Amino acid sequence: MEFFNREKEIQDLLNMIKQEPNLITFIYGPINSGKTVLMQYLIENILPREYVAFYINLRREEVTKEEEFYEILFEIYEEREAFLDRIISLLPKISFGIPIPFGTFKLMFERRDKDYRGVFRYIIKTLQKLKEKGLKPIIIFDELQVIKDIKINEPLIYRVFNLLISLTKELKLCHVFAITSDSTFIERIYNEAMLQGRCEYYLVDDFDRETVEKILREKGFDDKEIDIVWHYFGGKPIDIIRAIQMKNIGRDIREYCEEKLEERKNLISEIILQREDEKDFFERIISLLKNFENHDLIRYKKITPEISFLVKNNILFVDPRKKFIKPQSKLDLLAIRSFLNEIL
Ligand SMILES: Nc1ncnc2c1ncn2[C@@H]1O[C@H](COP(=O)(O)OP(=O)(O)OP(=O)(O)O)[C@@H](O)[C@H]1O
Ligand SMILES: [Mg+2]
Repeated sequence: MEFFNREKEIQDLLNMIKQEPNLITFIYGPINSGKTVLMQYLIENILPREYVAFYINLRREEVTKEEEFYEILFEIYEEREAFLDRIISLLPKISFGIPIPFGTFKLMFERRDKDYRGVFRYIIKTLQKLKEKGLKPIIIFDELQVIKDIKINEPLIYRVFNLLISLTKELKLCHVFAITSDSTFIERIYNEAMLQGRCEYYLVDDFDRETVEKILREKGFDDKEIDIVWHYFGGKPIDIIRAIQMKNIGRDIREYCEEKLEERKNLISEIILQREDEKDFFERIISLLKNFENHDLIRYKKITPEISFLVKNNILFVDPRKKFIKPQSKLDLLAIRSFLNEIL
């Protein structure tokens, strides 16, 4: 896959990583803005050799129980003599879990009391060993919100946050990044007392106009086609790539864009009209959306049920730091307008 310009983001993230760990970094942004791809590219192509990254993708499998979270958190090494030291010497640049010898994993999880503190102690010990060997570990959780509803006695996520705060602010053992595309989750985190002063936020948004123009020009788009793509798709990476593919097979760009808009409008319309019977709620949704008839983004004071509904359905995106909401993409903005036009 060809990777397009993210120079600014890469520089910003590198600057964070080069400092001593201090805060948990939440990477957020609208859906499909390229958060995951950016982090993977950074690890695999940019980070100096001494860094090892543990990329924990919680979207990979269904996680509904504490045990399932640990199964994803660890990468089990089944060598006969799998001592941690030896495993560490085998670590690739990007590993999909924290390495653990099979025997240790088994022991930890066969304990009847399932004492999670053992798990966290093991993680701390492993990271300390890595550090002693001159390596610099980084832990990345992709889609951390997946565990937000898992409860044991207290919510699992609080335990995880406590661990992450220890690893960064207190022990300075590793950098921690948590990527999420769920902006209601980010909103909750942002207002979470436990995390005040212990984390920071980094927005990965769609490409800007200049970047889109540069990418498309290199792919042989003329001025008119560039304007069309920008008008319909803004800087959404996935849509830009699709448009390039369509041009390559000789499709008319305007026609293709119109088709995508129609599809998106139909989908949004279906989602919203499902709530038509709940008169009050439906009207509040419509009046919220009407704000986008003349604006690309709007300010909010608090997250209402209608905002929540539209965010959950990937129509709107919330930025809790700047207190604004906007459609997830330019196509969504146009689709909302076209939907309103149709029903009003
Ligand atoms: N810098 C880039 N260069 C090339 N392609 C990109 C880039 N960023 C994103 N893409 C394309 O967009 C797609 C979506 O990117 P990615 O999965 O990283 O988005 P995301 O923000 O993590 O999405 P989600 O919100 O669903 O987690 C990628 O599969 C890739 O095709
Ligand atoms: Mg992602």
